[in-house]
Amino acid sequence: MSEMQGTGNAAVSRRVGTLSLGSIVFPDSSMMMTKKVHIRTFGCQMNQADTEIISSLLQDEGYRVSGSEDDADLVILNTCAVRENAVGKIMNILDNLKGKKRLRPNLLVGVIGCVPQYYREKLFDMTDGIDFLAGPDTYRQLHLLIENAEQDVRGAHLASVPEETYADIEPSRSGSISAFIPVMRGCNNCCAFCVVPMTRGRERSRSMQTVIDDAVKLAEKGYREITLLGQNVNSYRDDDSGYDFAGLLEHVARAVRGVRIRFTTSHPKDLSKSLVDVIAREKNICNSIHLPVQSGSTRMLGLMNRGHSREEYLEKIAMVRHSVPDVTVSTDLIAGFCGETEADHHFTLSLMEEVRFDFSYMFCYSVRPGTYAAKRMEDDVPDEVKKQRLEEIITLQNRISAERHAYEVGSIVEVLAESESKRSSEMLMGRTPENRVVVFDRGQSSPGDLVKVKIHASTSATLLGTPQ
Ligand code: SAM
Ligand code: SF4
Ligand code: F3S
Repeated sequence: MSEMQGTGNAAVSRRVGTLSLGSIVFPDSSMMMTKKVHIRTFGCQMNQADTEIISSLLQDEGYRVSGSEDDADLVILNTCAVRENAVGKIMNILDNLKGKKRLRPNLLVGVIGCVPQYYREKLFDMTDGIDFLAGPDTYRQLHLLIENAEQDVRGAHLASVPEETYADIEPSRSGSISAFIPVMRGCNNCCAFCVVPMTRGRERSRSMQTVIDDAVKLAEKGYREITLLGQNVNSYRDDDSGYDFAGLLEHVARAVRGVRIRFTTSHPKDLSKSLVDVIAREKNICNSIHLPVQSGSTRMLGLMNRGHSREEYLEKIAMVRHSVPDVTVSTDLIAGFCGETEADHHFTLSLMEEVRFDFSYMFCYSVRPGTYAAKRMEDDVPDEVKKQRLEEIITLQNRISAERHAYEVGSIVEVLAESESKRSSEMLMGRTPENRVVVFDRGQSSPGDLVKVKIHASTSATLLGTPQ
């Protein structure tokens, strides 16, 4: 998962009202005023996809998107509660917004997503300056919350709506090359450290047909890459047709053969042979899998309640690599979970050496009140030990990533160009099907093109090359 801090932009013009004078209808000038919303998005890709849904809902209410907080009438923070520092970041931003509200008393601030769902109305007491709260299942109520806030009525919609998937809402997508399709929401697992089941509720899946229809529409609009999203994407199940995630992935890949298909995040215990066979068989499904392991110690995996051992994880990796030999594997790792000994930490390092992950998201364990671990276990690894272990994990991952990338030097890879490189407008950046980031000389290529690139250099994060 990514600790992204993007800015999704939904600007809003209020629905134009009318005043009737005889048979002539004049627009009410006070209601013609265009209102703008600026949305900042934190946390995982599910939150990024939710921002696109919220943008669409607010545009239907007449709002227009602003790329900047400075000219917005409404600022919405779509938040993440997964670690304490993610919440700290939101509190700092709210502090800053308090100052702006003093200068612009009509500015409204809404906090939505996982932080309000986690802290509920208590969040109003934790900081000033919030006008409304909404949780991940109540975005259809946002316009009501905004209308009340405009009348100085502070409100919160934090109900859990177990059937809500927003399947009928066409997201207002920010990009034109890659698109997300959320296919399921929520999580039925109970990992001891994790708030997501508390913030996102029980799993629910969209019907397979609505996902296929969306994929076909995106292909017709010219999108070149689709990522199927879920907190636990491989637990997807269409109750009507009985199809599981392998079935969904196969049908989507066949419906849009010219489009690259990705998916995230998969849980190791739900990774089936049939899913791996689909990845191997359908050529437009990208050969990369994100498979969070958290720890290399079977004892820690038990304490975390992950539902598999180190050996079972290694068997899954062997199964994937047997069927999809050039697959890249990425993971999530936590340093210093409750009870972790030096020996457990060394099991994590040795697992990393054994699997040779291409890429990892790496975190210090952060206690989250309300979780099983916070209630029943002792956070007994001192902060400096957590940091030291994380440092060792990061150093090892950087070495492995650099070695895996160096192996690519001299090869020719197919890159979907995404955008100009940050370094220079003469260079483009894109990704291989294995999700490797490639920066290359622009030549005649444009974002959206598939380009054959010869790799001539590498770092731990990037491949550098020249179009062929
Ligand atoms: N559903 C995915 C899975 O189980 O594989 C992961 C989703 S979770 C939102 C993303 C990652 O955040 C987890 O894989 C874990 O590494 C990390 N994470 C979750 N809770 C955490 C905590 N309390 N402290 C540190 N990292 C945490
Ligand atoms: Fe959190 Fe575990 Fe669910 Fe992933 S599977 S979202 S880590 S509870
Ligand atoms: Fe964060 Fe919520 Fe995603 S807690 S990681 S934004 S599901």
